[in-house]
Amino acid sequence: MRKYIVAGNWKMHKNNTETTALLDEIIAKKQNTTTEIIVAPTFVNLKTAVDTVKGQNITVAAQNMHQAEGGAFTGEIAANMLTDIGVNTVILGHSERRAYFHETDGLLANKVDTALKHNMSVIFCFGEELKDREKNNHFNIVEYQLRDALFHLNKNDWNNIVLAYEPVWAIGTGETATPEQAQEIHQFVRELIAKVYGNTVADSVSILYGGSVKPDNAKEIFSKPDVDGGLIGGAALKADDFLAIVNSF
Ligand code: G3P
Repeated sequence: MRKYIVAGNWKMHKNNTETTALLDEIIAKKQNTTTEIIVAPTFVNLKTAVDTVKGQNITVAAQNMHQAEGGAFTGEIAANMLTDIGVNTVILGHSERRAYFHETDGLLANKVDTALKHNMSVIFCFGEELKDREKNNHFNIVEYQLRDALFHLNKNDWNNIVLAYEPVWAIGTGETATPEQAQEIHQFVRELIAKVYGNTVADSVSILYGGSVKPDNAKEIFSKPDVDGGLIGGAALKADDFLAIVNSF
């Protein structure tokens, strides 16, 4: 069943005190909604977040995890260390991880497999760079990313996959994709999934848009038929802005 989701990727912002304060404000101001709300604090604040949102129908997600299930990987976090503290959702493939930590789609395929092995849900990020779009190569780039990282999965695996289209040129830039640009890629991706996995799987996958989503543009973007919500960066760091986006459906 396709869900409407708004997820806040807090990146490397908000220390422990700020994490609690922001979550307390979101909880206090949150209206009843059928939209799934996800927050993704930094690793060190995940347990605080899980404890703070208990009973509030808010999901806590990690921003990354290692593909190995344990071992000599200094500075890394394994899937079971997340599920042990009640974190069962993870963002994988964010463009900042691809750019700064050289994560390839092959590596991400392994991370996805490990997450699914631990019954985690995955928010899988993909999207083209400006140079790709300028060469009108963005459809190919997006297809390669999905085929290389996800198209080894079986149909049931897709019950635990949420996709997030994040054109790199729109992330943190204020250069939001137009609702039409978002819809054309989301529709392309849904049709691609339908070709490989059939309509039932394609119609049930939530495809989020990310890249400079703000309270004043969310409603129009979310109104598009193949946009099922957003993955929010900067605007997720303020409770009023984040909740305005949550309430944009
Ligand atoms: O993962 C979401 C993030 O990359 C989008 O950032 O600040 O453009 O909303 P922002």
